[in-house]
Order: sequence, then structure tokens, then C-alpha cells
Amino acid sequence: MVQLTLPKNSQIKEGKAWPRPAGANNVREFRIYRWSPDDGQNPHVDSYFVDLDDCGPMILDALIKIKNEVDPTLTFRRSCREGICGSCAMNIDGSNTLACTKGIEDVKGPVKIYPLPHMEVIKDLVPDLTNFYAQHRSIEPWLKTATPEPEKEWLQSHGDREKLDGLYECILCACCSTSCPSYWWNGDRYLGPAVLLQAYRWLIDSRDEATGERLDNLEDPFRLYRCHTIMNCAQTCPKGLNPAKAIAEIKKMMVERRV
Ligand code: SF4
Ligand code: SF4
Ligand code: FES
Repeated sequence: MVQLTLPKNSQIKEGKAWPRPAGANNVREFRIYRWSPDDGQNPHVDSYFVDLDDCGPMILDALIKIKNEVDPTLTFRRSCREGICGSCAMNIDGSNTLACTKGIEDVKGPVKIYPLPHMEVIKDLVPDLTNFYAQHRSIEPWLKTATPEPEKEWLQSHGDREKLDGLYECILCACCSTSCPSYWWNGDRYLGPAVLLQAYRWLIDSRDEATGERLDNLEDPFRLYRCHTIMNCAQTCPKGLNPAKAIAEIKKMMVERRV
């Protein structure tokens, strides 16, 4: 039998249990992944205890309370706290979602919080999104036109505008891509659901005049065709979008342009 030796820092250990708030009756445990590149320790899971009677209703409220009042070294991203910026994406209770729109009461028992899966971790709950953003840049996510600029604006019928519904709402949080097994294994070459949904958003924009060029850019066994319709992406999207459907539409456009 093959014997494998795990790398030194590969095991997640039990970490520290921080003190419970004194005199509180409505306490919830938060079990949070911790790792810092600076202290040479293994990743570990620390337990924090939050008085829910003295905390806002969302997971992000608890994280901010812990950082402000218990452990200032806890590191995570957040900005809008409105489900708009996408920066607080993390794995909560086993699913990728936004900490600012996930209610504490929606989770039963201890709240387990990890960074988005299968990404390099910069620190604690902060994933390295460099590759994800480079992939987004590679689909040239802006209007490309050849005809001279109109004097005022590029017009669009109501019907054409409606084709962007279910696409323009994407906040690039990466919850879908980091829940996609194909992206886990081929994230260096497969664009993943978020970026492909964005690619489709520009492909069907009636004002865009680079459709052929955009399809050429996607015509590749890895960039597009690694989607196997597993549907994790649609299940996890905190904005209720369906990247798998957008990917299927791109594949349809590829076939249609051949006939
Ligand atoms: S499709 Fe949904 S999950 Fe994916 S990046 Fe956009 S908003 Fe996030
Ligand atoms: S449907 Fe495609 S993109 Fe979505 S999770 Fe499955 S393989 Fe990934
Ligand atoms: S803080 Fe902006 S989406 Fe959560």
C-alpha cells in the first residue's frame, strides 16, 4: 500500500477557545478557521462565543463584534454589508455564501466558518482572488463596438435590455466558482461559472459588436468545456443566479455559429 506523508501544515487542528461573555443568556459558538502566514502554526479552528442579545442578526455582525471586542487579529473582507460588493463571501455552515446576508438564526448549533474552498488563503477568511480577477479580465468585460460612437448613448430596446436580467446582478463574489468541482481541479485553465456568466452577459448584449471574437476566445477545451452541469454553482449563488444556464447558452451559441 502506498504511504503518503501529509505536508507539515496540512492538518487543521483544534485551536483556542476564547472566553464566554460574562452574564449572557443567549450565547452562540462560532468556530472559525484561522491561519496566518506569519506565525508558522498549522491552520486551526478557534471557538468564539457571542451574546446574540447584544449582536446584529447577520453572520457578518458577529464577525465584526468578535474582531472589535474579542480578537482584533481575526481577518476577513467586508465592505457594503448589503450583499452588493461580494467581498464577504466565505463558507458558512458548509455552503459558500455572503456573511452579510446570512442570518445567524439560519444556522443551527455552532456556526462553522471557513474561507472559500480550494483557493490559496492569504490569512484566516481571506482567499487569494488574483487568478479569479485575471480570468475576469481575460473575457474583456466591457462594451466593444466598431461603429462610430452615437452622439448621446447606445440605445437598447426594452426586450434586449431584459436579456441581461439574471446576469447583470452578479457581484463577482466567487461563491459559485469556488463550489464548482471542475474549477477546483482545473481552476488555472477552466474559467469557472462566475466568469462564464459574465462572458455570456457581454455575448448577448445587443449593443456589443464583438460576439465572434468573444466566442473565439472561449472556444477551447478547458476555458469553456469543463462544465459538466453538476449545478453546485446555481445552488450556492447568494444572488439566486444560474451560471450553469449561462454556460449552456454559450455552448448553444458555439453550435449555432457552426451551422
Ligand atoms: S453568479 Fe452568483 S455566486 Fe457567482 S459570482 Fe455571481 S453573484 Fe457570486
Ligand atoms: S454546472 Fe458547471 S459551472 Fe456549475 S458547478 Fe457544475 S460544472 Fe461547475
Ligand atoms: S459586505 Fe458586501 S456583499 Fe457582504
